[in-house]
Amino acid sequence: MCGIVGYLGSEKASDIILSGLTKLEYRGYDSCGIFFHDTDNDRFITYKDKGRVHHLVDDFDYQYNNHLAIGHTRWATHGKPNQANSHPHFSLSQRFGIVHNGVIDNYLELTTKYLADVPFSSETDTEVIVNLIDYFSKTLAVEEAIRKTLSLLEGSYALLIIDIVNPDILYAAKNKSPLLVGVGSKGIIIASDVMALVGYADHYLPLEDKSVVTVSKTENQYHFELKDIIGKPLPTTMLEMNIVMEDIGKAGYSHYMLKEICEQPSVIRKIMAMYLENGSSLPDKIIQHFQEANRIYIVAAGTSMHAGFVGKYLLENIAQIPVEVFIASEFAYNPPLVEKNPYFVFISQSGETADLRSSLVWVKSHHYQSLTITNVPTSTLAREADDFLEIYAGPEIAVASTKAYVAQVAILLLIAYQLASRKPFDIHVELSRVAVAMDAIIDRRDYIQHLVRDKLVKHNCFYIGRGLDYFTCLEAALKLKEISYIQTEGFAAGELKHGTITLIEEGTPVIAVISQKTMNHATRGNIREVQTRGAEVIVISMSDIHDVTDQIVLMDVHEYLAPLITVIPTQLIAFYTALILERDIDKPRNLAKSVTVE
Ligand code: G6P
Repeated sequence: MCGIVGYLGSEKASDIILSGLTKLEYRGYDSCGIFFHDTDNDRFITYKDKGRVHHLVDDFDYQYNNHLAIGHTRWATHGKPNQANSHPHFSLSQRFGIVHNGVIDNYLELTTKYLADVPFSSETDTEVIVNLIDYFSKTLAVEEAIRKTLSLLEGSYALLIIDIVNPDILYAAKNKSPLLVGVGSKGIIIASDVMALVGYADHYLPLEDKSVVTVSKTENQYHFELKDIIGKPLPTTMLEMNIVMEDIGKAGYSHYMLKEICEQPSVIRKIMAMYLENGSSLPDKIIQHFQEANRIYIVAAGTSMHAGFVGKYLLENIAQIPVEVFIASEFAYNPPLVEKNPYFVFISQSGETADLRSSLVWVKSHHYQSLTITNVPTSTLAREADDFLEIYAGPEIAVASTKAYVAQVAILLLIAYQLASRKPFDIHVELSRVAVAMDAIIDRRDYIQHLVRDKLVKHNCFYIGRGLDYFTCLEAALKLKEISYIQTEGFAAGELKHGTITLIEEGTPVIAVISQKTMNHATRGNIREVQTRGAEVIVISMSDIHDVTDQIVLMDVHEYLAPLITVIPTQLIAFYTALILERDIDKPRNLAKSVTVE
């Protein structure tokens, strides 16, 4: 969802902004723009429109010397994607230019109260912010005018502000939407996502809510000041940058998604190294919170919620702890009746999903304990929950989540295993087998590509399975629809006949997942039901329960770990289907990687 990046330093600012916007593309957007100071002619220039960053990069006039710039990728919330609504936005006097992530809830009231005479040129809430700054700057110093404006805003914002009167200063502010300040040897870069800092910053600082940054230049040195909303200086303890350019490249793969699918065996091995080897384990405090809880409440969205379903099964079956799973956007407005001693577990690849954040705010307001399981240790959810576990999937750039999903499942498995009074298997042995089994199916991906071409590219599709396989089916169906735009549903195999079987006709693809011995017979019965009605069936099964006609047979692993393996061919099916249909696989239409609005 929207991305922002700004820079003040000795390098060419527009290069850094365009490279930053390209790195932020994966978050999802529909328009983009840049605003910079043309140093030679002491004037400001804007490019903005609906469309992709590569159009901006292609159309950009690279002759300008410039050292101050801000840029934006917009995912439309207030007003449709077009040039007028693209960022940056300007105050009526043109003195201030701004880019904004987030949503201002009270922008209409503020307009009526302070800006009734201002003719707006866009439908965005952002234009209200920039005009308020201008309005207050008539009586206050600029920094104070910004703080005064922020004190009136209700909602979420990450802002970068340029005052054209002073091209040696860049202002930034944040509330609820993420923003990070990166410091490099040649300047200061501020962005909504750590990815945009890669290659330019050696250290960085994730900002807290309601903080204001002023970047300035004195004697060719660039530095920043951090204050709270009333102007009190805040500490600036910097973190070391631990992502390098190679981590965010495609490493020779055609798509990030394929690269990330192929990285999954290494992710499992990395998780083993971080949490199982050399005496390392999950933190005692977290294990104790699970042990003391009467019930676990998992809150998540999309793919992370599917990991949550698998986690529920594992925690209940391996560790005998009752668990409920909630859709984050529902939880935030309709919280459940909570048991005594609850423990809330937030699962989020990005750690920024707004629906989870609202739920966490509710949990904290009730003084309940919480844990965030995420891929981004500096994310809002990681910082705001009481406890935090990193999933170590490495940067995931494709919008459709793959390796983060298996990493989330693996972490939930480790938790269940550590809590189990009787260990049902040797976790080292079984996770090592999982990595090998993943390698084996990834090595056969050409075969899956052929299978997809022959049988699968149709207008709708079903995944069916029981127990743990049902959760894999939910995730498999989401993946296929996300990137191929084929209508796909994941069904509990036995439930299909209670209505939805009417949709099965000659040639409808039905993909069955069978990894659980006790359910093998019943699911095969359901396969026959759909075959009789003309379905084109593909079966994904484990070696020890496979049938000779099954198309995708996977290496055996313990049944509890099967979701880590069965999901891999479904990711490949989604990938190759989207490839045949020539979809924008890494950036599917209408989707955002990090959904920072509710
Ligand atoms: C978006 C993405 C999904 C993702 C979901 C939750 O909808 O498109 O792929 O599963 O957000 O994101 P999170 O970062 O909280 O796991």
